[in-house]
Amino acid sequence: MPQIENTHAQWSNRLAYILAATGAAVGLGNIWKFPYIMGENGGGAFVLVYLFCIAIVGIPVMIAEVYLGKTGRQSPMRALGVVAKKYAASAAWKYAGGMGVLAGYLILSFYAVIAGWACAYVIETAQGHFINATPSEVKTTFESLTSSAPQLIAWTSFMLLVTVGVVAKGLQKGLERCVRYMMPAMFLLLIIIAGYSANYGEFSQTIQFMFAPDFSKLTVDSVLEALGHSFFTLSLASGVMIMYGAYLPENTSIVKTSIWIALADTMVALIAGIAIFPIVFANGLEPSAGPGLIFQTLPLAFGHMPAGQFIGSLFFVMLVFAAFTSAIALIESSVAWLVEKKGFNRMLSAALSGFGLWLLSLLSIFSFTGASWTEVHWFESSMNFFEMIDYLTAKIMLPLGGFFIALFVGWCVKQQDLAMELKLSPFMFLVCSNLLKFISPLIILIVFLNLIGVLKF
Ligand code: PHE
Ligand code: NA
Repeated sequence: MPQIENTHAQWSNRLAYILAATGAAVGLGNIWKFPYIMGENGGGAFVLVYLFCIAIVGIPVMIAEVYLGKTGRQSPMRALGVVAKKYAASAAWKYAGGMGVLAGYLILSFYAVIAGWACAYVIETAQGHFINATPSEVKTTFESLTSSAPQLIAWTSFMLLVTVGVVAKGLQKGLERCVRYMMPAMFLLLIIIAGYSANYGEFSQTIQFMFAPDFSKLTVDSVLEALGHSFFTLSLASGVMIMYGAYLPENTSIVKTSIWIALADTMVALIAGIAIFPIVFANGLEPSAGPGLIFQTLPLAFGHMPAGQFIGSLFFVMLVFAAFTSAIALIESSVAWLVEKKGFNRMLSAALSGFGLWLLSLLSIFSFTGASWTEVHWFESSMNFFEMIDYLTAKIMLPLGGFFIALFVGWCVKQQDLAMELKLSPFMFLVCSNLLKFISPLIILIVFLNLIGVLKF
């Protein structure tokens, strides 16, 4: 086997990797998106399907990605190229990795904007702007933030600058140091808030809502939504898990760590539900309020509950931490690629990548402020750039990327080599291998065709 040149550093240990990868997984997807889509899809039954998708599709694809990264030891596109060459497979497989990096880059261009809102809300809440606020005042705050280009640009620039600063410092001094403090702090804050809101709000109604499945509320569409979200929430097909796998220390179990990461991500999503819904129910708010759920309704609750100014500020600090540890993951593959390809140092690579992101983020920012030039026509529908980037990444690039990764590892990689790396019992290996070969691609294919409207149930 040819020696693979390794230009990159590695995580200093297993824990560092777990924290970083969990940091990448846990983000706005868990705390902002999961609660509102669960709310829109009727609760319990949706949660069950989501758990099923994580186990059947999410974990196998994550294992496949980390395996590819660890074997290739390069940024995603090049890592796939290395593995394809090793097994004499078509070099075209590497574009599945390249598409992931591109998807991650596009995702970050709006992710940084939303993370910027969370930063702005830390200040708003801490200054007591929501104390005794009326619903219309809370709404006005949200609208005046999201319609002010200067404010959005300032907060997005701040998020991107800090992201670039951390990533420029390198793997161990930058990313690792950051997740080592932020992840435990994030978990702790989340538990405190969940405990508080379980006490203060409608806890039993929340448990009923989240865990008593009512299958009559389950539509085919919500099954598909659950599957799509399991991809986004685990950061799959976005270059992230391949990249972080490339930094995996030699004797770290891919299977065990993947299961841990998926479990942690799922726990955070569920605890976020327990933190948010008791407040929603106690205040008679609508669980299906949509994307505005945490920005437009929670401040109302924070404004009226004891210690709400404090708890509310902590909530948004936690959200910033969660988003931030995903942002550094999202920028890392493009930075590593510039280091490999152009031979730039990390500082320059991070700065260049960050500048490109800053320019791209303007598309989303001006979409929120409602600038008319951001309206684009897309087949029959018309959406703004933000909606288009979201649609293109979450609904097209991620499922397609995951599909090719599962097929590539299932069919092109020599299964004995995979078995040696995964160290599973023969039976469990067979399960895993068949999930990658058949089940995951098939499920993804059905979802994908449905989402792009080719196949409509
Ligand atoms: N998993 C992150 C979240 O749940 C989002 C993300 C997607 C991060 C893709 C990296 C890559 O918020
Ligand atoms: Na997540």
